Amino acid sequence: MLILGAEDVHQVLDGAEKDVLEAVRQAYVLHDQGRSALPHSVFLRFPDDRRNRIIALPAYLGDDTPVAGVKWVSSFPGNVAAGLRRASAAIILNSMSTGMPEAFMEGSVISARRTAASAALAAATLAARTPDTGVSLVGCGVINFEVLRFLRAALPDLAEVTLFDLDQERARSFAERCAAHWPELRIGPAAMADEALAAHRLVSIATTAATPHLTTDACRPGTLVLHLSLRDLTEESVLAAVNVVDDADHVCREATSLHLAEQRTGGRDFIEAPIGAVLADPAAQRRSEDRITVFSPFGLGVLDLAVADLVRRRARTLSLGTRLPGFLPAPD
Ligand SMILES: NC(=O)c1ccc[n+]([C@@H]2O[C@H](COP(=O)([O-])OP(=O)(O)OC[C@H]3O[C@@H](n4cnc5c(N)ncnc54)[C@H](O)[C@@H]3O)[C@@H](O)[C@H]2O)c1
Repeated sequence: MLILGAEDVHQVLDGAEKDVLEAVRQAYVLHDQGRSALPHSVFLRFPDDRRNRIIALPAYLGDDTPVAGVKWVSSFPGNVAAGLRRASAAIILNSMSTGMPEAFMEGSVISARRTAASAALAAATLAARTPDTGVSLVGCGVINFEVLRFLRAALPDLAEVTLFDLDQERARSFAERCAAHWPELRIGPAAMADEALAAHRLVSIATTAATPHLTTDACRPGTLVLHLSLRDLTEESVLAAVNVVDDADHVCREATSLHLAEQRTGGRDFIEAPIGAVLADPAAQRRSEDRITVFSPFGLGVLDLAVADLVRRRARTLSLGTRLPGFLPAPD
């Protein structure tokens, strides 16, 4: 058993944005080609507690070197007030020849970066005719910080960032971190969500909202909204948009805005395309210049596996982590 902690994961992934983007791109395309197995995520919730949850994402991704495993990721939003991260996670990778667990690694960094990479791939592939030079980030937490990291890698013209968070202190400290990491970016606050939505034609929403609170009315035509937190936009805004998803069966669940839109209309005709098909043939799906495009990725376990496998392979080469030879019982 190879055990990799957060420091090991950082050592592999920091500065490796292009490799993560490629791993995520390949995982989406393989999934779209049916070369994956992806049961629905299992949501563990607790009696009398709608806020906290732990989700299991089992997956298999077939390729020349197939991988199987599971991410176990918890969300305890109250952690933030205590100075802790909302989300924490562990990933197990299993051998495809014996089924045995082979690697156990810290999963929240992998999870945040695969999410951000998926958003950046969508932004680069559903590119506007005039390249995006600015992005609005609604929700100034861990995910949107990673989104900015990956947008910088995928969109070379990005120069301006507009921030909005219900918690002004979060927005202020986020702006400070961005300025320290990327001093070349122009970063400014928005007083209201609609001001942020109107500021740029690229928007990333990563809040902890549990029910829809936002329309896209303030967005300019041709805007791409990366709807990562999935429950912010009203059904009307979803139904009026060009919708790109990761997997319709996954994203139309768990009271996401798309799930609500499906319940309202009785179908999924409002979904235009899966991102895997768009990545496989980018010419087939251009960003609409006169409507709003919304990308809603449920967050597929195959992405976690693809990035975890990248981490495991690089960690081996760099001799990172701790080996625990006696983790499994000896053969009889
Ligand atoms: N789709 C995916 O693949 C995927 C993967 C990981 C996380 N997520 C989702 O992304 C979201 C953000 O995660 P995070 O780790 O950055 O959380 P976080 O707790 O670090 O940050 C969330 C931020 O949103 C702010 N916020 C809450 N409600 C808001 C509102 N109505 N308007 C503006 N700001 C608001 C909070 O003040 C906080 O600063 C979560 O909902 C999480 O479930 C999605």
